[in-house]
Amino acid sequence: MEFTTDIFSQFDKKWALITAGKQDDFNTMTISWGGMGTIWEKPVLTAYVRTSRYTHEFIDREDFFTVSFFPDTYRDKLAVLGSRSGRDMDKINGSGLTPVPCENGVTFKEAEVTFVCKKLFCQQLAPENMPDDVRKAFYEKDALHDMYIGEVVKIIG
Ligand SMILES: Cc1cc2nc3c(=O)[nH]c(=O)nc-3n(C[C@H](O)[C@H](O)[C@H](O)COP(=O)(O)O)c2cc1C
Repeated sequence: MEFTTDIFSQFDKKWALITAGKQDDFNTMTISWGGMGTIWEKPVLTAYVRTSRYTHEFIDREDFFTVSFFPDTYRDKLAVLGSRSGRDMDKINGSGLTPVPCENGVTFKEAEVTFVCKKLFCQQLAPENMPDDVRKAFYEKDALHDMYIGEVVKIIG
């Protein structure tokens, strides 16, 4: 598996879709917080998903999730998938992206690279362990984030 990037801009500037489920029953949403690195001698990708997201339910019940990055021309589509909930509408059919099955999950024909991740670890970010300014800025009105660490078992693209 080979992948080279500036990790500080990969999530923050490019954004990504995190997707869980099977081709006939999945959900996806935009993320811009995340990381890639190593733990327990494994290559891993870490994502942070608020417990209020519909996608959270899918990630929780599945053993795998995928994280897909797209060419910049798809940014408007990622903006829509990051502002509507699959709970309220069929946002995937309206997104203009083409879901395709991949090893242990779903990715999109338009993705330039997809990380297939096997769930290794999940833990909620505890408010009492956060700096006060972070807690006030990000969690006074919104649900907490669960941190998902996934072992990268395949890189497609
Ligand atoms: C650029 C961008 C980045 C986002 N990053 C995250 C993130 O890292 N974690 C998160 O929980 N939500 C993030 N969101 C919000 C979700 O994508 C959004 O709430 C989405 O509508 C959830 O969809 P769902 O309810 O179908 O899962 C982001 C939204 C945008 C537009």
